[in-house]
Amino acid sequence: MSYKHVCVLGLGYVGLPTAAILASRGVNVTGVDISKKTVDTVNGGRAHIVEPDLDIHVNGAVARGMLKARTEPIAADAFILAVPTPFGQNRLPDLSYLQAATMSIAPVIKKGDLVIVESTVPVGSTDQVARWLADARPDLTFPDPMDGAEPHDI
Ligand SMILES: NC(=O)c1ccc[n+]([C@@H]2O[C@H](COP(=O)([O-])OP(=O)(O)OC[C@H]3O[C@@H](n4cnc5c(N)ncnc54)[C@H](O)[C@@H]3O)[C@@H](O)[C@H]2O)c1
Repeated sequence: MSYKHVCVLGLGYVGLPTAAILASRGVNVTGVDISKKTVDTVNGGRAHIVEPDLDIHVNGAVARGMLKARTEPIAADAFILAVPTPFGQNRLPDLSYLQAATMSIAPVIKKGDLVIVESTVPVGSTDQVARWLADARPDLTFPDPMDGAEPHDI
């Protein structure tokens, strides 16, 4: 299966290099960030973070029209969630950014799309993302995490 258009949510240390390298490999990439300043910087062909050669890749991808940034997701073939998952109270992971990013793609996903959780998350979070999407999009079906699982896999 080929993914011609990928939406990367969160243009930080993980998301922006991922977006720029995918775009440099001929994938049409939409980078999404809630920070308008970040979106404007990327659309200006610059990186707002310091990583070796990242500016060069972002500049080239934007100049070729393969990377465009915006504050909200649009329809794509695959979605990469690379938003923060900081420790919250009692050192429990705060999944609120992941939930917000998940809900932002819910209106635009369609049958056959791929959703990748790139953020660092506790075990079970991918299932949680699928449940959030299933609740928001009852017209779609999502993989059942228990499908095919042996008791010792659980
Ligand atoms: N930085 C690393 O080396 C590294 C390595 C492995 C894993 N991770 C994990 O990857 C995830 C992202 O880390 P990072 O270092 O790239 O974070 P970061 O803070 O550099 O970037 C996160 C970006 O997400 C944006 N964002 C927040 N909510 C959003 C939303 N709803 N929609 C779109 N954008 C949103 C923020 O504005 C920010 O630009 C974390 O879970 C982190 O633990 C990071």
